[in-house]
Amino acid sequence: MDRNADAPWSKFDPEVYVDNNYRTPLEVDLLIVRLMRDHFGQCLADVAPGSLRGVDVGAGANLYPALSMLPWCAKVLLLEYARPNVEYLERQTGPEGYDTAWDAFWDVLSQGPAHRAVEHPRSRVGEIVRVERANLFDLDGRRRWDIGTMFFVADSMSECPEEFQRGVRCFMNALNEGAPFAVAFMKESVGYDVGEHHYPAYRVNRDLAAESLEPFSGGLTIHDLDHVVRPGHEGMLLALGRRNAEVAAP
Ligand SMILES: C[S@@+](CC[C@H](N)C(=O)[O-])C[C@H]1O[C@@H](n2cnc3c(N)ncnc32)[C@H](O)[C@@H]1O
Repeated sequence: MDRNADAPWSKFDPEVYVDNNYRTPLEVDLLIVRLMRDHFGQCLADVAPGSLRGVDVGAGANLYPALSMLPWCAKVLLLEYARPNVEYLERQTGPEGYDTAWDAFWDVLSQGPAHRAVEHPRSRVGEIVRVERANLFDLDGRRRWDIGTMFFVADSMSECPEEFQRGVRCFMNALNEGAPFAVAFMKESVGYDVGEHHYPAYRVNRDLAAESLEPFSGGLTIHDLDHVVRPGHEGMLLALGRRNAEVAAP
């Protein structure tokens, strides 16, 4: 069984990953972005813009979770383990501004009032988004973020059931009580290729997703999205909710 530490993370190619997944925006990602925008918008209707600390865990080569949190945040931290992805994210958040590939996602986001009020998303990303190399498993359980996302990480980093559960727990334990969150899993994934390299996955279905997240959540909704984007999975699961008061063992 492939554990997280066994996978070739140092060989992860972010440009190939973006080509495979985001360069041509898929209907399902645009749907996810809309659902996430509305969830955050509803949860944060009374929150002042630019006041929260946000985190995207295992950000990889995907900027749309960070863009989704942008209006409400004073700071957004992108935590990522694979060095090539850290470098990709540093470029996206650097002075040149993020790639045009991410504009299609911003277009959907900016159909909501909070995002529409952000006049210059590229410069805002450069001002408030920071990147840090970190291992999800090393998050120490200190609750410090007010809003958070984790997209295709706990399910797409290991074949090991304990590591899936631990990944979910480490993420949820980093969120303050009341923090809105969005978590996405590939449904029933058997692993994935990026270029010549293979990466492990744990097969998650709707019940497993609910079981893992419910202990930490209030008002959990799981969207079971049928869209299949490549061989080797059966759809996507998008979980939206708020962190409850429960303190879980690390
Ligand atoms: C399938 S990719 C998802 C990337 C991105 N979040 C997305 O939505 O496309 C899985 C990501 O998890 C990251 N990852 C793997 N193990 C990790 C760990 N122990 N801590 C943090 N991130 C990790 C990988 O480097 C990769 O970026």
